[in-house]
Amino acid sequence: MVKLTGYKKVKTAVFISGTGSNLKSLIKFSKTRKSPISVNLIISNNPKAKGLRLENVNKIKKKVFSFEKNYKIEDKILTFLEENEIQMICLAGFMKILSRNFINKFKGKILNIHPSLLPKYKGLNTHQRAINDNEKFSGCTVHFVNSKLDSGKIILQKKVKITENETKNSLARKVLVQEHKLYPKAILKVFNL
Ligand code: GAR
Repeated sequence: MVKLTGYKKVKTAVFISGTGSNLKSLIKFSKTRKSPISVNLIISNNPKAKGLRLENVNKIKKKVFSFEKNYKIEDKILTFLEENEIQMICLAGFMKILSRNFINKFKGKILNIHPSLLPKYKGLNTHQRAINDNEKFSGCTVHFVNSKLDSGKIILQKKVKITENETKNSLARKVLVQEHKLYPKAILKVFNL
């Protein structure tokens, strides 16, 4: 578990690739008194990520790192995180896989949210795969990140019922509503709050 020192909030970077609705909910949460984290940095691999243009990200430092053909990119990110005194990372719809070396530098301090009830449906296209398998439930999971994809220790999960005629889009919408509640709850749990 991450330890809180003093009364200062833990400086956190949120990594995104797309819409950023989880980022939005994390920022909202971070501004509440009970939040142990502050969102100090937003990192994206995608310059077109909508999340970079959300209304409530205005005052937060943002940086895009292009992963394509850039094998030293993680070193650059690590340096940038260090310069900004980042202590914790929340992956929120970040669609790149981080190396073992990167993860070890932030051991136990990287969280991820995944749109399935892990260990089921790791990877991509989770909603369609759950529907195809006639699952009765799907959901979302917040977990610690380790070097194996979507396999780190589970912090919290929330179940969502799959109804008749469910589509991957309708399921994604339902799960996302729960994701926005689950991520803050999981952060409180990580800090024993
Ligand atoms: C969320 O459903 C998140 O769980 C998922 O991408 C979506 C991002 O939405 N993440 C993954 O699939 C990671 N493997 P958002 O950009 O609106 O937060």
